[in-house]
Amino acid sequence: MTAPNIETIVSLAKRRGFVFPSSEIYGGLGSAWDYGPLGVELCNNVKQAWWRWMVYERDDIEGLDSSIILNRLVWKYSGHEDTFNDLLVDCRKCKSRYRADKLYEEVGGSGTFSGSIPAGSKCPTCGESDWTDPRPFNTMLQTRLGATAEDDPSSVAYLRPETAQGIFVNFANVLTTSRRKLPFGVAQIGKSFRNEVTPGNFIFRTREFEQMEMEYFVKPGEAESAHQEWIDACYSWFTSLGISADNLRLYEQPKEELAHYAKRTVDIQYRFFPEREEPERQWDELMGIANRTDFDLRTHSKKPEDAEGKRLNPDSTEDLSYFDEVNKERFYPYVVEPAAGVNRTVLSVLMDAYSEKTNDKGETRVILKLHPALAPIKAAILPLAKNKPELVGMAKAIKRSLQPVLRAVYDDTGGIGKLYARQDEIGTPSCVTVDHQSLEDEAVTVRDRDTWEQERVKVADLQEYLLERLKE
Ligand code: GAP
Repeated sequence: MTAPNIETIVSLAKRRGFVFPSSEIYGGLGSAWDYGPLGVELCNNVKQAWWRWMVYERDDIEGLDSSIILNRLVWKYSGHEDTFNDLLVDCRKCKSRYRADKLYEEVGGSGTFSGSIPAGSKCPTCGESDWTDPRPFNTMLQTRLGATAEDDPSSVAYLRPETAQGIFVNFANVLTTSRRKLPFGVAQIGKSFRNEVTPGNFIFRTREFEQMEMEYFVKPGEAESAHQEWIDACYSWFTSLGISADNLRLYEQPKEELAHYAKRTVDIQYRFFPEREEPERQWDELMGIANRTDFDLRTHSKKPEDAEGKRLNPDSTEDLSYFDEVNKERFYPYVVEPAAGVNRTVLSVLMDAYSEKTNDKGETRVILKLHPALAPIKAAILPLAKNKPELVGMAKAIKRSLQPVLRAVYDDTGGIGKLYARQDEIGTPSCVTVDHQSLEDEAVTVRDRDTWEQERVKVADLQEYLLERLKE
């Protein structure tokens, strides 16, 4: 079972402290969300899992953490100032504004959106059919740097819309300091910002979000095979997080959807909208894996010239080409880019982990079957009676002994059934109960979240036992 819709997760997330609407006491801020005590742990666990898989478990990837605000010229030469646009349409009657491609889908346009809304399409808000022509809207979020005049164009800067450019402009720095040879990659996790026209669907589309991106630099002739390898590897990574293959699929972007830098892009889509009748509309992008060719390193380089011998980039001070010592040739490496969203990964693992189970008394309980490595809390230590100082003391001592190695909590604020239910709902893989017998036999009962089976474990072996279960 998975969550029947995103709304189910919104309500669980608010009730249990995963995600709250941002600035709620002032009426909120459309599409901004804050991660609560459990949400921050889940996000951190997703990012750690990605970093471990992407950087530590491979021999060919370095890490980087670049600035969010870069020199404006980066966005000029990357093409984002000119082309990072969404097409907008307005309803002249009720003034509602839509992203044209999303409106096209909503009014039942067939095939892929090719730039116009079918005549007679009704506005989903007011039902009229009086549209403006689609027009481009640049979705980079602008800010101004320093105490400059409001209208001083030189103070304009952007909050990055992708982490990738910070990697490209540091290509030579990483290459020289790490003494890498092709192929190698540079990974980065960080916030990105887009002035989305129609944000929404909870944390699926927001204006501030987090990306996990890796730019893999290869010889031009090796890009296509490397691209396929990364598509397969990324798909397997999502299933290794416990996401069911039934809810994942690959989507080949048609030519007209490709970003200006991409030769080929394959998205990994998740079934974010299982409640939608039309099967094709149930899926949306979880991550994109692009073959960006040599576009980025070439465009940021000082050397390339046009047919008249004029430098294409007169502002760059660096040439980002690569010298292959073996073949004695110089070229601009191609880039394969797996780019995933932290927030969409969090949403997909929450939806996929959602399940319900009925107990002996006929009560339905929510169980969040998160992969143990992602679970915000790894073990809850629960005394069977809170009015017995010996039990409480032993339970607290066990919690203290575990906390340097795994995230454990102590809870005595309810009967044991209620405490178990609370932990099931937030995905805690193990509940450790300290009972009267524990005082005699120095052992505790460990209850499994998914099977509700119980096992007696010696306190001396508990840490190793729990760590072992996190690998499952
Ligand atoms: N550097 C390439 C790039 O940024 P993208 O497909 O635009 O590619 C990569 O973004 C991933 O970032 C997406 O697959 C998605 O998971 C996430 N993402 C993009 N825009 C988002 C938004 N407005 N809100 C939440 N996540 C977003």
